[in-house]
Amino acid sequence: MNYLNINKQAWNNRTKIHMKSKFYDVEAFKKGKCSLNKIELEQVGDVKGKSLLHLQCHFGQDTLSWARLGAKVTGVDLSSESIKEANLLKETLGLEATFIESDVCVFDKNNKQQFDIVFTSYGVLSWLENLNDWARTIASSLKVGAEFHMVEFHTFYDLLSGYSYFPNNKPDIEDEGTYTENCDGSTSTIATWSHYPSEVISALIEAGLSIESFYEYAYSPYNCFENLEFVPNKGYQMIHKGQQVPLLYSIKAKKLN
Ligand SMILES: C[S@@+](CC[C@H](N)C(=O)[O-])C[C@H]1O[C@@H](n2cnc3c(N)ncnc32)[C@H](O)[C@@H]1O
Repeated sequence: MNYLNINKQAWNNRTKIHMKSKFYDVEAFKKGKCSLNKIELEQVGDVKGKSLLHLQCHFGQDTLSWARLGAKVTGVDLSSESIKEANLLKETLGLEATFIESDVCVFDKNNKQQFDIVFTSYGVLSWLENLNDWARTIASSLKVGAEFHMVEFHTFYDLLSGYSYFPNNKPDIEDEGTYTENCDGSTSTIATWSHYPSEVISALIEAGLSIESFYEYAYSPYNCFENLEFVPNKGYQMIHKGQQVPLLYSIKAKKLN
């Protein structure tokens, strides 16, 4: 089974739905709304004049938000439909950006540019079979002294939803709809892998990066899972047996040499 093609098809299907969703609210984005959240904005800091590589950029709203903040951006994604829409959005808004269709795990084979920042966020790792390949792409895309930033959904939520917490090296193959409110009941086949935070950190260290920070969060900006409740001024939380479940984590890593 070609898992990459299965996921590419699924993300091509999902992109068409996402473009019309309130969840992504493309109209508000076009009018100037920033799609980035407080966590990544504070962690990454000032991007003005810096080169930024956004891995798994989907149809480019976050990438173009970094561009609006002054970064020179490149977005990479597996989905041809996402890259097509990202380029259309860029042209409509008259923004500078380069979008490349590629599997992030082999992106380093063709890429020659090194960046000041590599960024990735929210729902990225479960689509990847091999985190060592992913981490190698990140390390080779960074200049010496440059930073990698990620914010990801915590795999604790997956565990409570019945998925393996520890890696079992074989994908879950499922037919699933997407997470936006306008999902019309249509499903796509997807292949996903579980990658818990210590596996992620180990892959980055093995690729030669130094971990500068690791934080876990009880609140998510996104209402894209079941059983979440909204807490004003904080975001969405999940309570399990009376206690808050970690919903997100963030990592900052540096290429020291
Ligand atoms: C949940 S989305 C990214 C989240 C992003 N924060 C957003 O909402 O705009 C996941 C993205 O990963 C991409 N993707 C999945 N597998 C990939 C791979 N092997 N290489 C590159 N991109 C991949 C999908 O096409 C999709 O656009």
